[in-house]
Formats: sequence, C-alpha cells, structure tokens
Amino acid sequence: MTDVFIGRNPNLPGANTTAPANQTSYADAAEVRERLVKDAQALIARYPQPRSALLPLLHLVQSEEGYVTGDGVQFCAEMLGLSTAEVSAVSTFYSMYKNKPVGDYHVGVCTNTLCAVMGGDEIFATLKGHLAIGNDERTSDSQGERTLTLEHIECNAACDFAPVVMVNWEFFDNMTPTTAVKLVDDLLAGREVTPSRGPALCRFRETERILAGFEDERPDVVHAGGPAGPATLEGLRLARQEELDQKDQGTNGRGAEA
Ligand code: FES
Repeated sequence: MTDVFIGRNPNLPGANTTAPANQTSYADAAEVRERLVKDAQALIARYPQPRSALLPLLHLVQSEEGYVTGDGVQFCAEMLGLSTAEVSAVSTFYSMYKNKPVGDYHVGVCTNTLCAVMGGDEIFATLKGHLAIGNDERTSDSQGERTLTLEHIECNAACDFAPVVMVNWEFFDNMTPTTAVKLVDDLLAGREVTPSRGPALCRFRETERILAGFEDERPDVVHAGGPAGPATLEGLRLARQEELDQKDQGTNGRGAEA
C-alpha cells in the first residue's frame, strides 16, 4: 500500500513540504483529500461546534497515514477553523496520537505499577530482546509479513487482569513473557489474533478509522465483544453477596424477636 499525503496547501505557513520517498506528493492525492474532506464533514456534523470534532479527526488522519503528519495537522486545522498550533497541542498531548509511522500493529505493554510488579517489566524486556527494537520503535519489513511498533504504556484501567498487553488498544489479559512472544510472532506472521475480549484484531489504520467513529464493517464484530471478565465483576459479586447476607441477618433477627 502506498502512503499518500492527505493534503497540503503550500500557500499556508507551517505546511510540511518534504514527502518521504515512499509517499506520493500531495499533488497526486486530490482524490484522497476529497474522500477525507467528506469523512471529516460527516464527523464534524455530529457536534454543535466544529472544534469538538478534533479528536475524531486526528484519528481519521491517523487512519490514512498511520500517524499524525504535519499535513494531517494542517488538514484538521483547515477543516475545523483552528490554528496548527492548537491542533498540535492536542495531538502531542494524547498518547494515542503518534508522531511517527506505526506498524501494522501497535503493541503496548503496560509497565505501570501493578502490571510492572506482576510481570509487565519482564514482558517488556523480553519483547525488546526478542524483536531487537527499543521503546517506540518499529520492526523492519524483513522481520515478518507484517510490522509492529512496541511501546511501553501507562495504566489502561485493566489492572484486574495484570499484567496486560494491548494490541491496537485491545486487551490481552494475564500475559507472561512466553505468551507475549507468541502474540508478537503471530502478529508478525500475519496470523489471525483475537484479544481476550472482542473480535479478531484488524490493522492499526483500520482500528484508527473505527476510533474516528466510523462503523466496523466486518460481519458480526459488534456481537463479538463478550461480557466483562470475572475479575472485573468480582466487586459486584461481593456487593450483591453482602446485600443478601444483610437481608438474611435481618430476616433471622426478626424471627428471633418473634
Ligand atoms: S497497571 Fe496495568 S492496566 Fe493498570
């Protein structure tokens, strides 16, 4: 797949005018820009104020190029009536927006406190050695059918399944160095991989389009989510048990009084 710059108005200040060798010039991408303008307008129409659509639009441009390029920033600014500085301030604040190309899969290893002590640090060190890349680096095309970017991530609120690995933001629970190595090997080999909850993974750019707010058009994916896991529901189970115990005590107490 050839990367395409989504749009660049050379008359505007701040436009990135140097296209990498593997990307076609914006001048050849009028049809891409036209498609993205249509998509962006559909997203903007969902909000009372255009600027409220900035986060979806950043996912949209990321779905096109695999990261937020200077042209992507420019595109969002033009569509929303913002300055490029305002768009950049947001895209560099949130860690889901990337400033360099992400592989076919983004593999995030949680190394925040609980996951770290439960094995996350070991998993991350193992994957760095196995893949021969460092944090926030991408495998080369020669390492497999697909590429992946490895990154250590902060807590993603799945501590009940620690240590977790996320691929394109989908969870893989209770991982070990061994299962993590198998996971990345499967991804590199292009095998179908299914997370602990939800449908089989799609590639990073496809995920980004879904995160922008467009339908996941694969059949039956909506119903592939499954329920919350037992660890997540444990607190609810205990609360309900406590409620039942209190009712029992109340009933027995009244019985004893009678
Ligand atoms: S510490 Fe890893 S998900 Fe919370």
